[in-house]
Amino acid sequence: MFLIQRCLCLPSNKAELLKITCASRCLHFSTSAKMSKKFKNARRIEGLDGNVWVEFFKLSSDPTIVNLGQGQPDISPPIYMKEELAKVAAIDNLNQYTRGFGHPSLVEALSSLYGKICDRSIDPYHETIVTVGAYGSLFNAIQGLVNEEEEVIIVEPFFDCYDPMIKMAGAIPVYIPLRFKPTKENGWSSASWVLDLEELESKFSSKTKILIINTPHNPTGKIFSKEELQGIADLCIKHDIICISDEVYEWLVYTGQKHIKIATLPGMWERTITVGSAGKTFSVTGWKLGWSIGPKNLIRQMQTVQQNAIYTCATPLQEALARAFWFDIKRLGDPECYFSSLPRELEAKRDRMVQLLQSIGLKPIVPEGGYFVIADISGLNVDLSEMKEDECYDYKFSKWMIKNKKLAVIPVTAFCKAYKKDFEKYIRFCFIKKDSTLDAFEKIIKTWANEA
Ligand SMILES: Cc1ncc(COP(=O)(O)O)c(C=O)c1O
Repeated sequence: MFLIQRCLCLPSNKAELLKITCASRCLHFSTSAKMSKKFKNARRIEGLDGNVWVEFFKLSSDPTIVNLGQGQPDISPPIYMKEELAKVAAIDNLNQYTRGFGHPSLVEALSSLYGKICDRSIDPYHETIVTVGAYGSLFNAIQGLVNEEEEVIIVEPFFDCYDPMIKMAGAIPVYIPLRFKPTKENGWSSASWVLDLEELESKFSSKTKILIINTPHNPTGKIFSKEELQGIADLCIKHDIICISDEVYEWLVYTGQKHIKIATLPGMWERTITVGSAGKTFSVTGWKLGWSIGPKNLIRQMQTVQQNAIYTCATPLQEALARAFWFDIKRLGDPECYFSSLPRELEAKRDRMVQLLQSIGLKPIVPEGGYFVIADISGLNVDLSEMKEDECYDYKFSKWMIKNKKLAVIPVTAFCKAYKKDFEKYIRFCFIKKDSTLDAFEKIIKTWANEA
């Protein structure tokens, strides 16, 4: 103490203060060193810290960048959604907790809509669940149904959260790729992405519990045909597998195409959880409401996870969503119904985007559904030598494009694990964008074409 005071020429009270500060820093250092092992992540999230949305959200945050990356609509949601939400927010009891597995008016609406589509009666209280987005449904289903070491088959490219959700449950993802096989009939359309059923069957083992499919598919836009779904259904039944069918883009189906629910095929209702999303259905991704429909015994397991995790979703959003559903259920089949008018509006945007991409030598694969186009970039021969070396070609290309063209997209290998090599020549563009955003995109493309 005397030494500190002498060396630093401090009065004794300041030296005392310094001594206390140093001592507490030392104590703090030794405590955190001792506790560091305890502060490490739990094993169930080991290696799962990377996330394409977090990375590309950051990379595209500069407002001068035209962002066609994340599936984020910048078109206005239907006016009645916004109006109903405002009305609901003014009602006191609708600002409080509601039923944990889904607000009554919303589950009634879901049961009415999907009852019509599936041509069966759906019990709103036992055969539906409302979740925090489709993410919530996927999480509840995987947590509620798979054990450690069991296997879940997923189709590459897959919506990126499937893989970490399976791993967090202690289960094992098993991958099967789509393969691009353009025929005379299908050409450069998403119909040319094929799932080989023999190869799929080779992935089943005694440990297989679940197969996850996604139709219309993100990122390719493929809509599985009735024959393909029947083949998948036959395998699920033969091997006694549960099917999770992610159908968040169910209404976004373009001319000449039809979306079929695998749950409606014979013997499939009993073993299928069908997942939907308000974000995709009504262009309100920020509402983060989703749902599942399925047989009582499977939905029950999802309810158990939900009641012990988040318990309930936001009441005002659920009530406003229910009202929007009723509005459109009453005009189902009418061209003005949002489920029909939105795909009509998007088809024109899709066609515009496809043409622009072709004009600079990219090879877009025309999607039959959803709101993404994936394009083959290999013909452009861009010099990527300035980019980090240990990344897939599509990552390097996307980052180069953000930097040099101020245009953000998502690399398709973000949706891959075992078959990255098959997909690294593709990037994904989102076309649920207002005309001014697509105008800005066109300007970039035209300048790019002039430079080439
Ligand atoms: C195939 C697929 N499934 C699930 C989701 C998640 O939907 P939500 O925003 O409702 O959680 C998305 C979102 O982009 C998706 O593309």
